[in-house]
Amino acid sequence: METLDWKSLPFGYIKTDYNVRCYYRNGQWGELEISSSEYINLHMAATALHYGQEAFEGMKVFMGKDGQIRLFRWDENSRRMKTSAEGIMMAEVPDDLFHKAILTTVQMNKRFVPPYGSGASLYIRPLLIGSGAQVGVKEASEYLFLVFVTPVGPYFKEGFRPVNMMITRTYDRAAPLGTGYIKVGGNYAASLRALDVAHKKGYASVLFLDAREKKYIDEAGPANFFAIKNNTYVTPKSKSILPSIINKSLQQIAKDMGMNVEIRPVPVEELDTFDEVGACGTAAVISPVRSIVDESTGKTYQISKNDEPGAISRQLYEKLTGIQTGDLPDPYGWIEFVE
Ligand SMILES: Cc1ncc(COP(=O)(O)O)c(C=O)c1O
Repeated sequence: METLDWKSLPFGYIKTDYNVRCYYRNGQWGELEISSSEYINLHMAATALHYGQEAFEGMKVFMGKDGQIRLFRWDENSRRMKTSAEGIMMAEVPDDLFHKAILTTVQMNKRFVPPYGSGASLYIRPLLIGSGAQVGVKEASEYLFLVFVTPVGPYFKEGFRPVNMMITRTYDRAAPLGTGYIKVGGNYAASLRALDVAHKKGYASVLFLDAREKKYIDEAGPANFFAIKNNTYVTPKSKSILPSIINKSLQQIAKDMGMNVEIRPVPVEELDTFDEVGACGTAAVISPVRSIVDESTGKTYQISKNDEPGAISRQLYEKLTGIQTGDLPDPYGWIEFVE
């Protein structure tokens, strides 16, 4: 096994041994190719470069105490990548190709799967781009599907601690009927300025509001928003947010803990009424939120009074990460072992 300082690894890129690639040409996908190069040879008029025909996914594998490598809900990522492809007119990657590509990439880079107990994991990044040349605004006729992996450290280096967030009213990441519901690069480009403003002001992340009315909560940067009150898990219903697989999984766990789940518009003022608030996604699973400042009014919503995550957020976090690492049983069939 590779000897890296797993616990202090950032969420960044580290070179591994292999990646896989597959090309779509003449209306069909070719053979999966294994590569040890970190570079791709791309036509300068590729639609990915000019018109943003690009979608990606993100998921993690974990080493269990039993030495088995566990992959979490890959079928959901595969489905979401198909929705992304459909949304911006790209060739869809069939489930079996997606599955084979991620398994092969993990298998070929086994020595980079961080050990059990390090809090680190191996992050899988599937990427689909329009590789065919176009100059007019039109979809490509050729596509490249690529998967690489990189080991990433634990999200919370100092443990599971609440963070402060900022509501932006200056920037939107996605239009109401735009591409916010899919995982395409343009949404992330559109979010960079707001994130930068938040970081420079010392906030961990930014909370985007609905772009039409600026009344409802959309998402927390690259994570979904959820909140807890009255034994209820509340999460926004919006056409411009990415359907998070962690959010979907937390909803299931919350139901099985005897909680109600409400998926509905969440007005900003409701922040005053929640017992717990969190951001959820693959990177952190849950980022508990301590306070949220409204950038334009200066109003602060104080969620937690101290530096501790709420009890329910902690339980949700422990149950979900327990399933991911194999410390807890997997009653939902969310885990696939990578042999
Ligand atoms: C915009 C956005 N929202 C939410 C999420 C969380 O989704 P998931 O739980 O599938 O990682 C992500 C990360 O993938 C994201 O980029």
